[in-house]
Amino acid sequence: MSMTAPETFQISLETAEIFESKFVPALFADWAPHVVDMGDVMSGDSVLDVACGTGIVARTAKERVGTRGRVVGVDLNQAMLTVAERVCPDIELRQADVTALPFDAGTFDAVLCQMALMFFPDRVAAITEMGRVVKLDGCVVIMVPSSLDAQPAYQPLVSLAARHAGPEAVAMLSAYWACGDLDELLATVRAAGLDILSTRTRMGTARFASIDEFVAVEVESTPVRERLANDEYDALRHEANHLLSEFTASDGSAEIPIEGHLVAAHRR
Ligand SMILES: C[S@@+](CC[C@H](N)C(=O)[O-])C[C@H]1O[C@@H](n2cnc3c(N)ncnc32)[C@H](O)[C@@H]1O
Repeated sequence: MSMTAPETFQISLETAEIFESKFVPALFADWAPHVVDMGDVMSGDSVLDVACGTGIVARTAKERVGTRGRVVGVDLNQAMLTVAERVCPDIELRQADVTALPFDAGTFDAVLCQMALMFFPDRVAAITEMGRVVKLDGCVVIMVPSSLDAQPAYQPLVSLAARHAGPEAVAMLSAYWACGDLDELLATVRAAGLDILSTRTRMGTARFASIDEFVAVEVESTPVRERLANDEYDALRHEANHLLSEFTASDGSAEIPIEGHLVAAHRR
């Protein structure tokens, strides 16, 4: 699930298809109903899904708002939108940067942003822009994974990778945890001119076919893999199976906990 800020500009159609077929069901779909709940999305509402990817939050919101409501998805990456067009044909999609949303001020009842804030170079500008397009009595919801030290399975995996591939592996595997300090996150939201309505910290579950697949997903998509000779990588996988055995289900699949924060905020 690796993705760094520069890479978000370069996702190929093939990567976007893998994101939709593999990572959305394994990981991102689990959070979407909670993000929509946090936004108090109701029948007839207008909802914006910011950095929508292939549109899992938009699709979930569409079920809530019904035919009287409106859901729009925005993403920087055309490949993500191409896949979203196919899987969410009844949702409006726009290509745009989060800091230049192509909507008038006060357009939406809810502006939702799941698993993307950490990839925005200017997070205050991004949230300020989300606040601009939400209605005065509307709500901005931001969901991010918690810090690495709160992650029961990722934390040991990253430490293991650092032991095998060197301390630089930590940064290479840590893009997703960058906004996970709740106090810092709330300070960022307030700096963007919004007031906090509520927060929630939740433990979700990512599902993979096996611990080997979990390790492959996390390591093979990053430069960490290039730093490991084949026998070192085999040793890492072997140790990971032992270290993460408590996350193996009876059918051999891996149930990986992911803690995340949900923050709902509104305009001052
Ligand atoms: C990990 S994906 C999450 C997608 C979706 N929210 C979900 O939960 O499935 C992060 C998304 O952020 C998008 N993104 C990154 N930087 C962006 C920016 N500056 N403006 C708009 N979208 C951006 C990427 O293209 C990618 O689709």
